[in-house]
Amino acid sequence: MEAPAPAPAPELTPLTTITTSKPIPRFPGGFLQGNLSEFRHQRLKLFRDLKETCGEIGTIRLGPVSTHVVTSGSIAHTLLHGHANDVNGGPLVKTFTPLVGERSLVLLHGPQHRKQRKLLAPSFQREQLAHFTQTMVRYTLDAIDGWRDGQTFDVHDEMARLTMRIIGKTLFDVDYRHETTELIGAMGQALEHIEYLTSSLVRIPLSWPTPRNKRVREALHTIDTTFREMIRQRRVDHAQRKDMLSSLVRVRDEEGQPIGEDQLHDDLMTIYSGHESTALSLGWTWYLLARHPEVLARVRQEVDTVLGGRPPAFEDLPHLRYTLQVIKESLRLYPVIFMLARAPTKDLEVAGYRLPKGQMVLMPPYIIHRDEKFFPDPERFDPDRFQPEREKQLPRYAYFPFGAGPHTCIGNHFALMEKQLIVATMVQRLNVTLVDGQELAPEVLTVTLRPSHLKMRVEYRKDTAVSRVA
Ligand code: HEM
Repeated sequence: MEAPAPAPAPELTPLTTITTSKPIPRFPGGFLQGNLSEFRHQRLKLFRDLKETCGEIGTIRLGPVSTHVVTSGSIAHTLLHGHANDVNGGPLVKTFTPLVGERSLVLLHGPQHRKQRKLLAPSFQREQLAHFTQTMVRYTLDAIDGWRDGQTFDVHDEMARLTMRIIGKTLFDVDYRHETTELIGAMGQALEHIEYLTSSLVRIPLSWPTPRNKRVREALHTIDTTFREMIRQRRVDHAQRKDMLSSLVRVRDEEGQPIGEDQLHDDLMTIYSGHESTALSLGWTWYLLARHPEVLARVRQEVDTVLGGRPPAFEDLPHLRYTLQVIKESLRLYPVIFMLARAPTKDLEVAGYRLPKGQMVLMPPYIIHRDEKFFPDPERFDPDRFQPEREKQLPRYAYFPFGAGPHTCIGNHFALMEKQLIVATMVQRLNVTLVDGQELAPEVLTVTLRPSHLKMRVEYRKDTAVSRVA
């Protein structure tokens, strides 16, 4: 069951009585720009080098702004979980405001966040998601039907098309295959603008009449009017529908009040954006499977044994165990939200280090997931690390691709289930290989890790009989 706001972990209670702080090592950088250039162009390398030079925490400088980078899972967890009430998302998370709106879960903190999270959580419970299984499988089958035997394509583009169609149907009961794509274009434009904002030193206010601002304002207007129209429509016809928006318009708070239109609008934006993370992470899973044919063969064997040629159903998910291990291990190596950002709202002492109010703290799961103590030979793709009994041995702070504390991804069950169903359905019918054995260097955009321009080839399996019906 989705926990609205997990209680602080007892073993990581914040330290409050330290009198002398340990100094935080400063990572060397240029005189004026500090580490800005590496931060922009080689962020993963910068974080790796920082860990080697500074250890569990270090300070970088982005132009005039000092920022802490935490490479210890335990310290990151203390901040995200134990100090959840003393931090907010800071300036980096604030840049998402034009897209997700100022009432978005990611921007709310404290009691306001708890209240809204409690209202949304029931719609994301695993059992609640069961009736989305059919949509997820049917749309995957449609995608497969649309590919020619031997066709090559850009993995991310295809996975994004698929996850977008799935989120459209499950969230709004809209099928993007048949209905307007104006919203899709507008969302793409808004996401691109976020990237522009987070990578620019000089930020031009959105109210200025530049061609870019005009395009972005038009896109935001399209999104705004489409969402508001859908909300009004669902207030009337929710009884006949099973989409998430219909359950959200039925929700009542403790005073019996429904979620207001502005709040619902920002919730939809935030939830909708989740599809992009799933698409990115599917791209990485295919990359790893194609590079490890022995793992792909084990997934294929499991899928064939469990499903026997029929499409997967909700009840099959617990039996597709190795497939889930593959998904978890690919999220370890490529946690698509590769860094989390917070800023203390008051001066804090964490693990003996002083973190001043307002100073940004970055916590990259990409680095933390490669800790040799918990993951020996960390670069190796080894799904057996997530065998249930081995997974149980891992401390919570060693692995958190869905974040930690009250802002833990509300869509984690949705994402894992969707990935498991898509991978099983595709493996059941297709052989997947990489075009020309490509080696991929992860591309970093804002806080996401992209398998950009990765080309994959799909061929229909000839060694098995499959059916479209259960
Ligand atoms: C593999 C796919 C996904 C990954 C790796 C992922 C990862 C994350 C992470 C790391 C956070 C926490 C960010 C922070 O603490 O700053 C987060 C938050 C969130 N995610 Fe996901 N996500 C995924 C898919 C989804 C999906 C499919 C949805 C919706 C259906 C979704 C909805 C959300 C929402 C609403 C939040 C904000 C929660 C809050 O602030 O209380 N995510 N996600």
